[in-house]
Order: sequence, then structure tokens, then C-alpha cells
Amino acid sequence: MSIDTRAIETHSTDNRRFKPSPEFSARARIGTLERFNEMYRESLDSPETFYKRETAELVFRKPWSALSEWKPPFAKWFLGAELNASESCLDKHLKTARRDAPAIVWESEPGETRTLTYAELHARVVELAAALRELGAKKGDRIAIYMGMVPEVVVGMLACARIGAPHTVVFGGFAAESLRDRINDCQARFVLTQDGAYRRGGVVPLKATVDQALEATPTVEKVLVYRRLGQALAPITMKPGRDLDWVETTKNAKASLGEAPEIVDAEHPLFILYTSGSTGKPKGVLHTTAGYLTGAHITSKYVFDLRDDDVYFCTADVGWVTGHSYIVYGPLSNGATCLLYEGAPNFPDWGRFWNIIQKHKVTILYTAPTAIRAFIRQGTEWPAKYDLSSLRLLGSVGEPINPEAWMWYHENIGRGRCPIVDTWWQTETGSIMLTTLPGVHATQPGATGFPFFGVEPEVVGADGKAVGKGQGGLLILRRPWPSMLRTVWGDDARYEKQYFSEIPGSYFTGDGANVDADGYYHVVGRIDDVLNVAGHRIGTAEIESALVSHRAVAEAAAVGRPDELKGQALVAFVTLKPGNEPGDAMKKALAEHVAQEIGKFARPDDIRFAEGLPKTRSGKIMRRLLKDVAAGREAQGDISTLEDLNVLAKLRGQDE
Ligand code: WTA
Repeated sequence: MSIDTRAIETHSTDNRRFKPSPEFSARARIGTLERFNEMYRESLDSPETFYKRETAELVFRKPWSALSEWKPPFAKWFLGAELNASESCLDKHLKTARRDAPAIVWESEPGETRTLTYAELHARVVELAAALRELGAKKGDRIAIYMGMVPEVVVGMLACARIGAPHTVVFGGFAAESLRDRINDCQARFVLTQDGAYRRGGVVPLKATVDQALEATPTVEKVLVYRRLGQALAPITMKPGRDLDWVETTKNAKASLGEAPEIVDAEHPLFILYTSGSTGKPKGVLHTTAGYLTGAHITSKYVFDLRDDDVYFCTADVGWVTGHSYIVYGPLSNGATCLLYEGAPNFPDWGRFWNIIQKHKVTILYTAPTAIRAFIRQGTEWPAKYDLSSLRLLGSVGEPINPEAWMWYHENIGRGRCPIVDTWWQTETGSIMLTTLPGVHATQPGATGFPFFGVEPEVVGADGKAVGKGQGGLLILRRPWPSMLRTVWGDDARYEKQYFSEIPGSYFTGDGANVDADGYYHVVGRIDDVLNVAGHRIGTAEIESALVSHRAVAEAAAVGRPDELKGQALVAFVTLKPGNEPGDAMKKALAEHVAQEIGKFARPDDIRFAEGLPKTRSGKIMRRLLKDVAAGREAQGDISTLEDLNVLAKLRGQDE
């Protein structure tokens, strides 16, 4: 990969600092900088002691004999330990007062509420585990989940964990083609889905998409269908011999079959989650049981300062890693009460989140900058109508939060009282890596914060040497951590190349960052060919391969440009095959094609036609130049290797 460090200029430092209130710190799990520093040092210098204590709340059937093993680029954690993740998230609470406390408070898009206590959630998981076992599912089988935000999706994930079958949740916004690729890549035997999901008053036909995907998935044997909407709203056809009704099947299953959790090795795969990288093929990020659970558990406990009386609302979809770690495994292993919202943030209007917070007395809100920017556009009158006094802590994730959005969040949602934790992490890291702790650190609009326990980051130049304070560079992680990905499913070589070849021996994040004079990390964004568009992680190569699969397209290059609302917008440069007319009709057809191939959320914001794309003499597309053109900047840097300068002039000519 060629790295363009020019893009990581130092963010202007925002001098505002917001200290946690003495009341917040006094009640917080960690309330002083001294304690934080002590624990941080311990996590690096005496990790055995640190992790022994910090995993004491998790259920291990057999303790580990060695904490970790690092044979670069492969790590193992908690060697020899045995456990089942669902015991830490469910069974453990049955013996305590949390048994009858709500685990999930579900708010549907039309506005109904359904609550599942820990005992109830446990019962549903046991039933489904029994049904899956009756169908022949066993330890190690992969199970794909393609569902909306209903409690059953959580039940599905935990039932897979219970029987030792790694799940792969595919975000419901992905099209049939993408679902099929993921199912085939991990060779799933079973699919869990639902008839349809509500979205902004409309219906997303999930089961119909599964049917389409399953036209070419030889490994899938059975599909369990949860009827959320019913035949009138979401008509479906059940394929005899393959498709089974979720409720009927679980009712008929012998529940005792699901009771015993499959006790697995610490390194047994817990799930595979596909994410975009710099090639057209998504990577199956593999997370294993003990290490992942530890990361999700400890970060949830300290970063969100979770307590029994909290009502915690994470607005992410379970199809992304944030939903895995901070709706399911982290909060539930802490016995938290999680609010799960089914629908869109603006249904029936832009007050929906604030209404939910008022109605359910939410105390902790975890959301994304792109959502905050969308709310800003709608005006402060929306949150102003609601009582948000239950809130005590706010979180942000997914992309850099600009200081303006930070201040708006602080003033209009936190009402100036709530600490904001800006949490940096990735699908690959499994859990939060950089943040502030809410009872400890002063926050700074636009800055992420400090390394979490066990995390040793550094900002380096292309030579792997640390850069000075305030200077931009590549963000790397110097040592392995429990919740790190173990490999790319079925592709160790890609894992090594992608994450451990750029700076040998260290994990390369793909992000650019700098550290300011006070030691705060500022993560500026991706420096590889991955974009963050409205909180969705999209690889430019995926867009390109979708575009060139259209009959009219000869060549395509996709790049990001800064966007006020979405963080980044997606711009595609397309060269058409002879005989095809560039124009609005073609733009529409191509955007539709990308929606069909990947999903609607990946539709380019802008498509530009070009007679040729700027290339080096060796034929590589010069994305750096295209980024400048897309952003309306003068091309900077070295263009001496550009094959045809005319191409650049023509591309720019379209702006005029
Ligand atoms: C970006 C989401 C700045 C970053 C959890 C990273 C952030 C990518 C932040 C991972 C943040 C996430 N500040 N950038 N607080 N959080 N990112 O895998 O570019 O969907 O590499 O995981 O999101 O996206 P992913």
C-alpha cells in the first residue's frame, strides 16, 4: 500500500476542556487519574495480575494456564481456559438479583415496548439453542444471521454462542449478492432471518433477500424465519424442507437440549464479522471466545461506567461490530439493561431518539457523529422538546467527531452535564482502544483521548519510527491485546499482509492520527482505501468492482471527499465502454446497480464520467489526484509519474 501521510495534517487544537464533575467522579468506577494510571501501568507491566482480577466476573469453567502467546502475527489469549460466552452473558445473572432485571428493553418502530428480563432472555436462548441442536447444528458450524433490530437477533447470536457455532451477522442493509458472498465465504450451514423489518414506516423484505441469496449457496441446509410482521405486511414463501418457522420450531424443540452450553476452548471462534478492506472482497474478521469477551466486558464496564440502575442505549445496528460488542456481549456480560430500538432515528420525526430517552429514562447514550450532524441540521428544537435529564453519559463512535458536533452534543443532549466519551476502535480490535474515561479525564472537543488498559498505541512515520507531538502519522498498536482479531477467515496470508506487513511486528490500523502536547490522541481517519460514509465502512475497491460489473462500464475508481453530513461522501469516476452515453440516465442506472450489488447505503453520492483515469506509467490509478479532484482541490504533490496530464485537466473541467 502506498501511504499518503500528507492527508494527516494536525488538527487545530481545540483549547476547550471539560472536566468530569466531582459528583460524577465520586460515583464512577474509576474516579481519579492516579487510579487510572496505576491500572494502565499494571495492564502493561503485570498483565497476568491485571487480567486475572478484571476477568473475575466472567465465567470460566477451566482457568487459563498462560495468559498469552504471541507468535507474530498470530496471538492466543487465556491459553488452556474453557468457557462458554453465553454463560457470562446469561446464566451468571440467574443466580443474582439481575435475574428479574430487564436485559433488553425493546422499542419497536411503531412504538410498542417489549421487555425481556435476564431470566426470559436466557429461556429464549436455551429454546433456540435446543432447536438448532435438533436440526443438527453443532460446535464449529457457521450460522448466518440476517435480521433487523428485534430481541430475537440477540437471542440468535447468544444461541449460536451457546452451542459453539460461530455466527456471522450480516447487516440488513446489504443486498442479496453481498449476503450470498458472505454465506459462501464462511460456508454457513444455517441462516436465521425474519420476514421483514420496519424501516422508516416501510418494510425491508429480509426473507425475500435471503431467498435470492440462497439461489447459489450450496452449504445452507435450513433457514429459521422469525415472523416479525406477518404475511399481510411482509408476504413470504416458505421453501419446504429448507425453511422453518422460528416460533414453532423453538416451541416444539425439547428445551432441555439447549440447556447445557457447549464448553469451548478460549480460542474457539465466537463469530466472524465481514468488513471492508482495500480489496474488492470483504474480510471475514475472526474473533475468538475468551479474549473477545474480556475486551467487550472490561471496556463496557469502565468506559460506560455501567451500573445496575443504568438504562443504556446504543444506537448501532447489530450488523456492525458496535452492535456486537456494545449491545450484546459487553453490556450483557455486565448485567446491564440495554435499550434496543428497531427503527430509524427520524421516524415518525426527528424527535424519536429524544422521545425514547425521555420515555425509558435512558442514562447512557452511545451514537455516531453522522447521526449527530443529521440532528444538528434539523435544529435544536427537536431535543429541546424532551426531558433528557435522565442522561448522565454520552458516547461517540465510528468516525472522527468534529468539534462543532461535539459541542452541539454536549450542549443540546448532555445539557452541559454529561461527559462525552469519544471511543476509537475497529471491527478488528473487537473493543474500544482509545477513549477518555468518564470519571477521570477532561474531554476535549474533537480529541479521542488515551489508550485503554492493555493498549499500547503509537503514531509513526512510514519508516515505523515515532513522530513528534502534534505531527501526523500512522496509528499502530505495538502489542497484541485480548480482543484482537485472530485472522481473516480462511486467509492467514491476507491477515498478515493487511495488518502486520506495513510496520513489521506491529498492528497497522489503517488510520492516521496525531498526539497533541497533552497526550490526547486525535484520530483523523482512514489513510487506506477504506471510507467511512455516514457511519458505514465501505471499501472503495468494492464499489469499483460493483461498477465494473455493469455492462456499460470499462473502468471505475471510487474515492472519498469530505462531506459535512456524512463525514465522507463517495465519488465514483467512471469510463464507459464505447457506444454508451454518459448522462443522468446512466448515472442513475449505475447508482442503482451498486445498490443491487452491495446495498443502498453504498450508492455513490456523485458519479463523474471521464474519458480516461489518471494513471502512473505502470498503470496504477492515481487515487490521490482523484481525491483532490473530487474535493475540488488543486492537485498537490508529485504528478511527474502521471501518464496523461490531459486526463487530469479534463476531469477538472467537469467542475467548471
Ligand atoms: C473509524 C467501528 C475517529 C476509524 C467501531 C476506524 C473512528 C474505523 C472512531 C473502523 C473515532 C471509529 N474517531 N475515527 N472515535 N471510531 N473510527 O470497523 O477510521 O466499522 O478505522 O468499527 O472507523 O470502522 P469499523
